[in-house]
Amino acid sequence: MSTQGTDPMLVFATSDKGGTGRSVTSCNVAYRLCLRGLDIAYVDFDFGSPTAGALFEIGHAERGTTEGRGLHSYLLGETGEPRRLIVDRETDRPQLRRAAPGAGQLVLLPGDVGGAEFGCDDTIVARAVTLLAKLLSEFAVVIVDLSAGRSVALEIALRATVSTMLAHRAHRWLVFHRWTRQHVLAAGGLVYGSHGLLETGGHFEHDRQELLASVRCVRTAVAASDWTRTVDPPQAAWLNEQSKALRELAMAEGLGAAMVLGQTPIEPMLQWREQLILDADVNARLADPATVEAYTDLARRLTDSATWDIE
Ligand SMILES: Nc1ncnc2c1ncn2[C@@H]1O[C@H](COP(=O)(O)OP(=O)(O)OP(=O)(O)O)[C@@H](O)[C@H]1O
Ligand SMILES: [Mg+2]
Repeated sequence: MSTQGTDPMLVFATSDKGGTGRSVTSCNVAYRLCLRGLDIAYVDFDFGSPTAGALFEIGHAERGTTEGRGLHSYLLGETGEPRRLIVDRETDRPQLRRAAPGAGQLVLLPGDVGGAEFGCDDTIVARAVTLLAKLLSEFAVVIVDLSAGRSVALEIALRATVSTMLAHRAHRWLVFHRWTRQHVLAAGGLVYGSHGLLETGGHFEHDRQELLASVRCVRTAVAASDWTRTVDPPQAAWLNEQSKALRELAMAEGLGAAMVLGQTPIEPMLQWREQLILDADVNARLADPATVEAYTDLARRLTDSATWDIE
């Protein structure tokens, strides 16, 4: 397994609302990181809806693994070792089965089919810590897709990252949100609000400043700025006004430009179907090159130490 010299990194994908693009974006970023030669683990901690298998087009694990060895079973102590699915071996998508030269390994740790949300206790947190520490010893980047909102998954992640085994490891928090008023307010609430990331983190002995320095937002499915050139002048004026208001709102919510890791454009392919966008999709003119550029850029910024002023 290759960690390519980079310090292994834990990345928690969060969002306040559901349907923000958290999973689709995270999977695509995982894929782009893997193309760079990094070994990536994608850990499905969306306990209420463990559907990451569908994004990698692993038919037998579309809604979680059926073998009783998924992450639900592992965290609840029903299996000692959670199932790992090597994406290019298990996927039904032919282009994904042909591993790109020099690519790293992309491994999915799925939830259990029919698995549901559960409570959080010390034993569950300890199992999560053991798992994440082990994955960090094998993979360059461990991406953990957390259930939306102030969820048990978020609590497990916050408690795990202050444990002695993980506190010294790099951990980053990505807050995904759509580029609309409601979503910006919701994302601001998740970071700064009551029972949000900082408050809950503080409660579990995280240093609030350090925690905040490890948080960045990802704005998803953002309309391209040149859209306004293709519409009637009154509509263009209205859209420009709304864009300005959104930028001001994001700033007021503490989610201004300095907090943004990047953004993704509206991608028609993803509006129809949740999936990885491959270079083959761009070459076949099915997907917009700007989408792949956005995922590549997110992957680069995520692993660039200049993005993070923590260490
Ligand atoms: N850039 C994009 N352009 C258009 N649609 C997108 C884009 N990114 C994601 N989507 C679509 O948005 C929907 C929600 O995305 P996704 O399932 O990743 O969100 P989520 O936050 O993980 O939701 P959940 O809380 O249900 O897990 C999906 O249909 C996805 O294909
Ligand atoms: Mg999801």
